[in-house]
Amino acid sequence: MSKKTILITGGNGEKGIGLGVGRRFSKEGWRVIILDVAAEPTPGCQKVTSESGGKYYQCDVANKSQVDSVMADIYDEFKKIDVLHSNAGILQWHPFVEYTEEQIHREIDINLKGMFFVGQPVARKMMEEKDGCIVFTGSMGGKESAANQSVYAASKGGVIQLAKTLAKELGPYGIRVNSICPGIIETNMADDAPEPEIPWIKRTPLGRFGTPDDVANIVWFLANSDASYVTGQAFNITGGMMTF
Ligand SMILES: NC(=O)c1ccc[n+]([C@@H]2O[C@H](COP(=O)([O-])OP(=O)(O)OC[C@H]3O[C@@H](n4cnc5c(N)ncnc54)[C@H](O)[C@@H]3O)[C@@H](O)[C@H]2O)c1
Repeated sequence: MSKKTILITGGNGEKGIGLGVGRRFSKEGWRVIILDVAAEPTPGCQKVTSESGGKYYQCDVANKSQVDSVMADIYDEFKKIDVLHSNAGILQWHPFVEYTEEQIHREIDINLKGMFFVGQPVARKMMEEKDGCIVFTGSMGGKESAANQSVYAASKGGVIQLAKTLAKELGPYGIRVNSICPGIIETNMADDAPEPEIPWIKRTPLGRFGTPDDVANIVWFLANSDASYVTGQAFNITGGMMTF
């Protein structure tokens, strides 16, 4: 049987969710392709992509022409993507009234429009193949937000709705689409989060923050036949901090 392939966006960070997912899929024998805005792959990313028979591509998901060109290269070389984990994202913390136009555009462009730009070429191919699975990284912030993350919350709410819509639109082609909603996962992004009055850890019933491995377990489940009747869902991975 030929090797299955996952494409992960935003998977370059040594501590990040995307690379955690990449490591898991590589361990399970999948080919891992990583696309990220960084000029060079980190050592961990280099190891996962090369050892799994995949490749690293530099690409800004907010730049449609760059995405189109890189996606054409990826399909030329690898022919099929079985699973897309669309995960690239940024988080800015600013009071609503202080957000600049440029900051609003950048966060929406990466977190939401990037999901369209990468998702469209992949969905077109998956529709032809009548097979595929897409997992979008949403966020707890897309369901219940915190102060000073208005643009992030709006973008991630959009991502969750995008996954639900695509589940209906692409389901007839045998394509499943879900989103994941992590709580506090120990990555660079979470390191920068301001501590609210009731600290994040106190709001987490399981008493610890999540790890990229915790997230990878759910993406692995969603990608495989155990989840063959699961689509249009938004999976909380929050240690119980959020329950709806
Ligand atoms: N860490 C958390 O607590 C948490 C919680 C909920 C959701 N998330 C989401 O998980 C995803 C991964 O975040 P993370 O925590 O691993 O943080 P991270 O900062 O380690 O990962 C984000 C990755 O996206 C890449 N990226 C940024 N802009 C890009 C662009 N324009 N094009 C391509 N790649 C780009 C970065 O280079 C980085 O590798 C994000 O979508 C984030 O919103 C994280």
